[in-house]
Amino acid sequence: MSGIRPVVVAANWKMHKTGPEVEPYFAIFRRIRQGRGSERVVVFPPFPLLELAVRAAGEVAEIGAQNCHWEPSGPFTGEVSVSMLAAAGARLVLVGHSERRQLFGETDEDCARKVRAVLAGGLSPMLCVGETIEERDAGRQRTVVIRQLTRALDDLPADGSERLLIAYEPVWAIGTGRTASPEDAQTMHAAIRETLRTVLGARRSGCVPILYGGSVKPENAAELLARPDIDGALVGGASLSPEAFASIVAASPRRQDRA
Ligand code: PGA
Repeated sequence: MSGIRPVVVAANWKMHKTGPEVEPYFAIFRRIRQGRGSERVVVFPPFPLLELAVRAAGEVAEIGAQNCHWEPSGPFTGEVSVSMLAAAGARLVLVGHSERRQLFGETDEDCARKVRAVLAGGLSPMLCVGETIEERDAGRQRTVVIRQLTRALDDLPADGSERLLIAYEPVWAIGTGRTASPEDAQTMHAAIRETLRTVLGARRSGCVPILYGGSVKPENAAELLARPDIDGALVGGASLSPEAFASIVAASPRRQDRA
């Protein structure tokens, strides 16, 4: 028996938008949403927009950061600690997005340190995993993703692990317009769920939402989110429009107790 998982729909703004765009975005999003739905909605803006976004979002979305450093403070020019993010009002932190891994050399060991630091700071890590096209073509997607997961969740403290979220984002589907088929995504999500069960135990793993990411749009969201182990979506490009993001949120099934 597993636990209760909310549907989570998250916007990753990446390196887009400036201060003056924040309030109008949430004003439009709020007007379309009109208090509907029980989904957990999260927006990940760039660092300088965090406080603005927290104020503008109010109750309509939780705000998260796109990255963090694992040390609490110190001589790390250009880095931002978890306590700084918490003080800005962030509640979640993305860890190990494939752009961080590929462009900035983040390793699974870095991800493990970040996951532990985010949990220790009382925030929720959203750990991203996913295979490249070469790995998929070689049939290694399962091995790669299970390895990323087990390494990044190494030595996870029992305390707070119920705040963990996972995003499965096949690298070849990010920003390319190519989405994994709902069947392929479901197969990977089921493998991730099984791995979480081994790492965290049945009770704790049952509470962890597993989101799909990679070219999610209003047109394909409902089909993906209908699969039993797909608990939500992490949306990049389409989340830059409040209208498109709101319609992806609206496409999520009204299930509060996916177990
Ligand atoms: P995409 O990005 O929706 O633009 O493919 C998803 C992500 O990178 O989180």
